Amino acid sequence: MMKTTKPVHLKIALLSPLFFMLSCSADKEDVVKPNPDPPATEVKFSTQVLPIFQNSCAGCHINTNPPNGISLTNYAQISANATAAYNAIQADRMPKGGPALSAAQKALIKTWIDEGKKTTSY
Ligand code: HEC
Repeated sequence: MMKTTKPVHLKIALLSPLFFMLSCSADKEDVVKPNPDPPATEVKFSTQVLPIFQNSCAGCHINTNPPNGISLTNYAQISANATAAYNAIQADRMPKGGPALSAAQKALIKTWIDEGKKTTSY
């Protein structure tokens, strides 16, 4: 009995590292594969939306006692006030005293809101 089972166990012992290596190389391929490009229309928060708020809004709407209690310095604050901010921008009430945002900047913020206010940065 021992003599017939031993070779079978030996074969499994020899083959299992092969399966292990195959599954490893498959995993590796998945990791090295580059991420697919984002859809052309998808707005990027960190590189496209945030700079507008930093340049045009955060000078006044910053953490200590901001106008109307609205801070606009980071994702949490901007996403929570996105609709009010967009309305004020669209109506040229904001940035207060400064030049109105361009049509392209307004459109970018609207698209970002319509896409679900994503944080994704590629
Ligand atoms: C020069 C300072 C200043 C800048 C820059 C500024 N704000 Fe304001 N913001 C104010 C003040 C002051 C108020 C309080 C209401 C008022 O005086 O009109 C206000 C109010 C608001 C309000 C609430 C009232 C409303 O009109 O809806 C929103 C929303 C707002 N700002 C968004 C923004 C956004 C978005 C930007 C950047 C595009 C911005 N603000 C830039 C000073 C500023």
